[in-house]
Amino acid sequence: MEERVRKIEEEVKAFLVASKEDLENFRLKFISKKGAVSSLFDDLRQASVEEKKKIGKVLNELKQLAEDKFKHLQEKLDSSPDAAGGQIDLSLPVVPNKVGNLHPLNLTRYRIIEIFERLGFNVSDGPEVEDDWHNFTALNFAENHPAREMQDTFFVEKNPDVLLRTHTSNVQVRLMKNQKPPIRSIMPGRVYRNEAISARAHCFFHQVEGLYVDKKVGFSDLKQTLYHFAKEMFGQETKIRLRPSFFPFTEPSAEIDISCLICHGKGCNVCKYSGWVEIAGSGMVHPHVLKNGGIDPEEFTGFAFGMGIERITMLRYSINDLRLFSENDLRFLRQFKSVI
Ligand code: PHE
Repeated sequence: MEERVRKIEEEVKAFLVASKEDLENFRLKFISKKGAVSSLFDDLRQASVEEKKKIGKVLNELKQLAEDKFKHLQEKLDSSPDAAGGQIDLSLPVVPNKVGNLHPLNLTRYRIIEIFERLGFNVSDGPEVEDDWHNFTALNFAENHPAREMQDTFFVEKNPDVLLRTHTSNVQVRLMKNQKPPIRSIMPGRVYRNEAISARAHCFFHQVEGLYVDKKVGFSDLKQTLYHFAKEMFGQETKIRLRPSFFPFTEPSAEIDISCLICHGKGCNVCKYSGWVEIAGSGMVHPHVLKNGGIDPEEFTGFAFGMGIERITMLRYSINDLRLFSENDLRFLRQFKSVI
């Protein structure tokens, strides 16, 4: 008989329970009145006194074992989610979905647009594959200006020349042709130059062109507009500096620098120890360009500027390598939450 008790004990231990149905089967098989343990107790009645003593103890232990296992499994099944009839607990915190965020260059572009929109500028667009006229000739570039060389420009076709625009200034003449002054517009977009890729240069990057043409637009308007922009973009304490420069399509021309945001003028490697960082080229629209756009330079004047979106983004977020913008590394891109 002892052997039968041991066998049932093994069966109790090995019985697998995964559902309430299994648990009921366990109960019927071992614990119920007609179950295996009860029938062992029945058999025990016929045993000798000595056997009763010995087996009775083991049998009681088996009964305890089966009941403990039943109780334990019952509690476990009652507390599992299935026990609630498959219902979802709505009070649990949600597992957040991973949503994307805007690219840092777009964050900067939107911020630039926002600032200029409040000054009354609208947003215009132009083609990236451009003819020679709009990218160079109409902008007063001399026949053999170095920018027209193969080393600097990606040509799509030669004679007549079709190229990837080297700056957003190509949109200037298109706007003048299509609109009457006052024209107050910014033109963000991608531009291309045949340059070796490094931390500071790339064969494609982004610019925002600005154009304001009206009666009596003066250099002071240019200066004030860009000063306002710099303060809005980088903080009210930002200073600007204009350096005389040359562009064929503006006269006079100036490079716009802002006071270095990293060292605040003390000198660091971002500003190359000068305290100033260049952010844009600018100037008064050259009379030839106004004429090429069908606008009378005797009646109207204008200013234009072009700034690099990468440069502004690098200053804004202290990014030290231009290549990061186009490498698509999510560890980099996910750091920019969509705060414009
Ligand atoms: N197009 C010039 C450049 O790419 C910038 C510029 C734009 C300068 C408008 C003057 C006026 O460097």
